[in-house]
Amino acid sequence: MDFNKELVQKIINLKKEKNAIILAHCYQNIEIDEVADYVGDSLYLSQMAAKTDAKIIVFAGVYFMAETAKILSPNKKVLLPSLKSGCLMADMINLEQIREFKAKHPNVPVVCYINSTAEVKSEADVCCTSSNAVNVVKTLNVKDVLFVPDKYLGNFVKSKLNGEVNIITYPGYCPTHLRIKPEDVLNLKEKYKDALVLAHPECHSEVLKLADFVGSTTAIMNKAKKSNNTSFIIATEIGVVERLKIALPNKKFIHISNKAICPNMKYHHLEDIYNALFYEQHEINVSNLLIKSALKPIQKMIAINS
Ligand code: 13P
Ligand code: SF4
Repeated sequence: MDFNKELVQKIINLKKEKNAIILAHCYQNIEIDEVADYVGDSLYLSQMAAKTDAKIIVFAGVYFMAETAKILSPNKKVLLPSLKSGCLMADMINLEQIREFKAKHPNVPVVCYINSTAEVKSEADVCCTSSNAVNVVKTLNVKDVLFVPDKYLGNFVKSKLNGEVNIITYPGYCPTHLRIKPEDVLNLKEKYKDALVLAHPECHSEVLKLADFVGSTTAIMNKAKKSNNTSFIIATEIGVVERLKIALPNKKFIHISNKAICPNMKYHHLEDIYNALFYEQHEINVSNLLIKSALKPIQKMIAINS
């Protein structure tokens, strides 16, 4: 891989000097892995953010991930290397909209996907990620649930629970995953007959119906590692495919579509990581009041998972 080794070493030195860690989501530019302490899905990264003793957390991910890290570790400095890294799905629901949604369905518990703002989380009963959504809803042990903001993840949970829970979904979605079409899967299945299709639950329900396995980014990677199969069609963001090709060079990975790239995840480069550490920029702040209210549903999720 071609990357600036000198810059990598400077970042590693700065990390030590400043007692910092770097968390990287597996949709990040691959060069970030050279300096990251932990690379993984959003659940894993939030667990690491909650656990660390470091003074500074540099979050190579999107805004809501850094914000969640700040809520979990309010005494730490949380830095987002590029402030352009938002999440289009998280921006599909705001405080007013979640309040309206709740008012339409009074007394129904709210499960909030972690891909949301702190304000929206503060209105929820419990959070979830793509790796534990089914378990979180099951654990609530209720008949009806409001699920925000991802309609497709909500529908996936409903299908996994055989319709036992009435999941009322908010109409949010991930534009990156919705660019994956059922025809993309069918065409590649025709071409690579032995390949297993591994898909992220943010994909359209018609895409998920065609998949052999549905799971979070980490779950997809683990499935590919454990499977006896040697070829896989990967229906999620390209970063997962890049990492799988490096981790498992003897297996074949086919990316579902070159349209499945999240532009928001690609803003951080090694230079931005270096600047974030050197200038201690751009710090993510959340008010104490909001930390108090958004922490509860996140902690509830982490407790369910442990
Ligand atoms: P994971 O929870 O699988 O990491 O997914 C995060 C995400 O943003 C997917 O689009
Ligand atoms: Fe948000 Fe979709 Fe990008 Fe994930 S892939 S960060 S849900 S826009």
